[in-house]
Amino acid sequence: MANDKQYNVAVVGATGAVGQKVVEYLSEDLFNIGELKLLSSKRSAGKKVTFQDREITVEEAKADSFENVDIAFFSAGGSISETLAPEAVKRGAVVVDNTSHFRMDENVPLVVPEVNPEDLEKHQGIIANPNCSTIQMVAALQPIKEQFGLKRIIVSTYQAVSGAGLAAEEELTNQTRQHLNGEEMEANILPAGSDKKHFTIAFNALPQIDVFDESGYTKEELKMMNETKKIMHDDNLQVAATCVRLPVFTSHSESVYIETDKKVSVAEIREAIKGGEGLVLEDDPATQTYPTALSATDKKEVFVGRIRQDVDNANGYHMWIVTDNLVKGAAWNTVQIAQTLVKNKIV
Ligand SMILES: NC(=O)c1ccc[n+]([C@@H]2O[C@H](COP(=O)([O-])OP(=O)(O)OC[C@H]3O[C@@H](n4cnc5c(N)ncnc54)[C@H](OP(=O)(O)O)[C@@H]3O)[C@@H](O)[C@H]2O)c1
Repeated sequence: MANDKQYNVAVVGATGAVGQKVVEYLSEDLFNIGELKLLSSKRSAGKKVTFQDREITVEEAKADSFENVDIAFFSAGGSISETLAPEAVKRGAVVVDNTSHFRMDENVPLVVPEVNPEDLEKHQGIIANPNCSTIQMVAALQPIKEQFGLKRIIVSTYQAVSGAGLAAEEELTNQTRQHLNGEEMEANILPAGSDKKHFTIAFNALPQIDVFDESGYTKEELKMMNETKKIMHDDNLQVAATCVRLPVFTSHSESVYIETDKKVSVAEIREAIKGGEGLVLEDDPATQTYPTALSATDKKEVFVGRIRQDVDNANGYHMWIVTDNLVKGAAWNTVQIAQTLVKNKIV
């Protein structure tokens, strides 16, 4: 454990897909937790949750829930962060926010601890956790950028339904059951709860995650493009994304094309990935070794395979990057941020 100081912690959205994982990682004793508040909407208030040897009653999140809280994790949606995160900061807490609300605010560090931990030093009370599909991509590309320079990224994602919350996971289960029972499949959530039309995700592939911007890109695609430049501190980096939802419960997969500044070999890229923090190389075509959504699920690392040179561009490389979107893509990255704050005594 980093030091003996006890930190009072609140988890907002503790009953959700991400919040439950945050609570799971907090139980690993990464730092010393004093009081732990588990907060949700009115709906789940009163539920009992076991944390180590304590039984904690979930409470409704309110402004005064944050009295005496040192670190507050938020994953209850952007509007809850918008109203309650400033209340938590006002009461002295440091907020680690999992929603997209503050990510592009220039006063809010957007952090992947393996890539830009130094940005944490500049925090003014709120730290943003990047979008799940961005985290795994920048984590995998950081050692390549450091060693060989990075000019361009073109990414296509193959994203799991858990990225859209527990209700989307239930929708996939229900549609699968309905289809196998010969019933009509009911679609109410995906591709985006707030959009006009909903499409079946079971046995399908939806080229829309979140709503469309007038540019023709979706908000998820724009998040990947803009957040990557902010985290990697490079406004000249060329990034284009196509984000696709698949009928997979957990773990996002990405087909990523990069162009490096220096000429390198596949072997050198493999070595860079091998030496990268939190990365695992799974890349051997001869033995059909590569990461998959199922093999990455419930693991904290980012897995990389299928590394090969582009046939036309000598500085172009393709690869396959997979991680558990609820773990490194969300909860684990936020808990790592808190762990780094504690270790560096900036909370
Ligand atoms: N899933 C991912 O891969 C992922 C990754 C990164 C970021 N995120 C972001 O994290 C947030 C949560 O995602 P999720 O997937 O965990 O969603 P989720 O499974 O739907 O859970 C939502 C959580 O928010 C709580 N909540 C809802 N309304 C609330 C309110 N008015 N006040 C307080 N709490 C409220 C819910 O409590 P009840 O139990 O009372 O309903 C629940 O605990 C979203 O902003 C999402 O964009 C998700």
